[in-house]
Amino acid sequence: MNKSLPELKAEILRLTREYSSRAHSAQRPGGDAGRPAFVPGETTVPYAGRVFTEDEVEAAVGSTLDFWLTLGPEGEAFEKELASFLGVKYSLLVNSGSSANLVALATLTTHKLPDHKRITPGDEVITVAAGFPTTVSPIIQLGAIPVFIDNDPTTGNIRVEQLEAAFSPGKTKAVMIAHALGNPFDVASVLEFCRNHDLWLVEDNCDALGCTYSMPIARAKALGLDHLIKLAEQNSCSLMIDSSSLDEANNQKPTTPHKLPAIIDGQLVAYTGTFGDISTQSFYPPHHLTMGEGGAVNIISRPPLKTYAESFRDWGRDCWCPSGKDDTCGKRFGWNLGELPPGYDHKYTYSHLGYNLKPLDPQAAIGRQQLKKLPAFIDARTRNWEYLRTGLADLEDVFEFSLPSHATAWNKPSTLDPRLSSFCWDSSGSTTHCSWFGFMLRVKPSAAFKHTDLVRHLDSKKIGNRMFFGGNLLRQPVFVQLRKDRPDSFRVVGEMTGADAIMNQALFLGTFPGLTKEMMDYEIDTIRAFVRDR
Ligand SMILES: Cc1ncc(COP(=O)(O)O)c(C=O)c1O
Repeated sequence: MNKSLPELKAEILRLTREYSSRAHSAQRPGGDAGRPAFVPGETTVPYAGRVFTEDEVEAAVGSTLDFWLTLGPEGEAFEKELASFLGVKYSLLVNSGSSANLVALATLTTHKLPDHKRITPGDEVITVAAGFPTTVSPIIQLGAIPVFIDNDPTTGNIRVEQLEAAFSPGKTKAVMIAHALGNPFDVASVLEFCRNHDLWLVEDNCDALGCTYSMPIARAKALGLDHLIKLAEQNSCSLMIDSSSLDEANNQKPTTPHKLPAIIDGQLVAYTGTFGDISTQSFYPPHHLTMGEGGAVNIISRPPLKTYAESFRDWGRDCWCPSGKDDTCGKRFGWNLGELPPGYDHKYTYSHLGYNLKPLDPQAAIGRQQLKKLPAFIDARTRNWEYLRTGLADLEDVFEFSLPSHATAWNKPSTLDPRLSSFCWDSSGSTTHCSWFGFMLRVKPSAAFKHTDLVRHLDSKKIGNRMFFGGNLLRQPVFVQLRKDRPDSFRVVGEMTGADAIMNQALFLGTFPGLTKEMMDYEIDTIRAFVRDR
């Protein structure tokens, strides 16, 4: 007998789950009993990778069977769910974190902004020297001038004390920087600088989904963070952590409350990516959640920016109808724009030099499943960092370990709660909670080996590791060439000693939720033996 379409689909999805649970067992979360056994020295320990179960595969196949393909119902739902998770006005899906950065900055070039706020060719955008190239490249691609300042080698983040020296009256329009490797930058100082000079802040949150930043509520008020304070007050009734919500990945209780922003003990606590004007995410596999390729532009509090961002993402069009829908504005043939004949179809009216940077709907379907696991993933990243830090604690004579921004020292876990280490904090009143992208350490110049020796050794032992992306970007071939071809296309303020130290000494290991205790024990043992043998 012929099966009905819903019956057929249900059967395909049941088989899909069965297939995936057998085919993809190595990609399950670290604490999952279904993972294959780890064989030290034989099984590769990746630095990062996709962590998923049959849920994501079922979602991808289900959405593919529906065959909407282009951004549609799943995308719309994902955008709402991500915006709600973060506490931002809107999230717009794009096809990568790099596209997100491009759209974010392009948004600020629109002629619809007042002249003094609009980024035009020759205007300056302050950024940092060490990091991922596509945090910076949109600045040049859009005709603006990146002004580089240095990174702090311990946090990987912007040296905020150099911001004033980089400022050019009448030219500087924005600060565009990343929260490095899942470590929030000094948001309060950067925001204060932006407020003092009426600048945009674009947070590249690609490596930091789920990090939180806290500051005294009085400081948040002084910085005009009304959008977060208002949301925090609304969220306050759901602040208590539900004790039944166990961390799926490691079967432990989450260490952070997840309905943010919130006001806790007089501090405003919010996710990174919610403090500035626009922020960006990447959903490439090593990131905190994945849909293969993908990214998002978060419009933090100003709704008009959403319309401009959407226009740049969607061909530059003036119309904002989602694909498959017409006449959302109710006057599709009633506009009179540019030098077009009155009533020209709004769907084909272009107000910007745009792109088409949308992902596919099945990607969003995968992302929605990943979002459900995000709190567990975030906690796993924090705990994995702590596990590695504790295991390598007595190697401080050869390694300089990363610290969260605002931390002045790391303290070993107490015997009362051996799961959690703690930090000493500076006197700013701000603290950070890291959802680490990686475990960064620097080999001290006094050590008997170089970081490249360690990197090669780890590689030979099948332990995945990475350098801090492009290191000092100014030393990359592309910038050396630009200096020759177009010396005025960027500006450098001060010495880049921190960025150079990162480039010459730093590497990072994984912290992603697919790591198991056995894998991390193997990493720790291998590094300890390497140091002992030098
Ligand atoms: C800080 C930062 N920004 C942007 C990107 C670009 O993201 P994507 O690879 O999705 O283009 C990355 C990539 O890892 C990144 O680390």
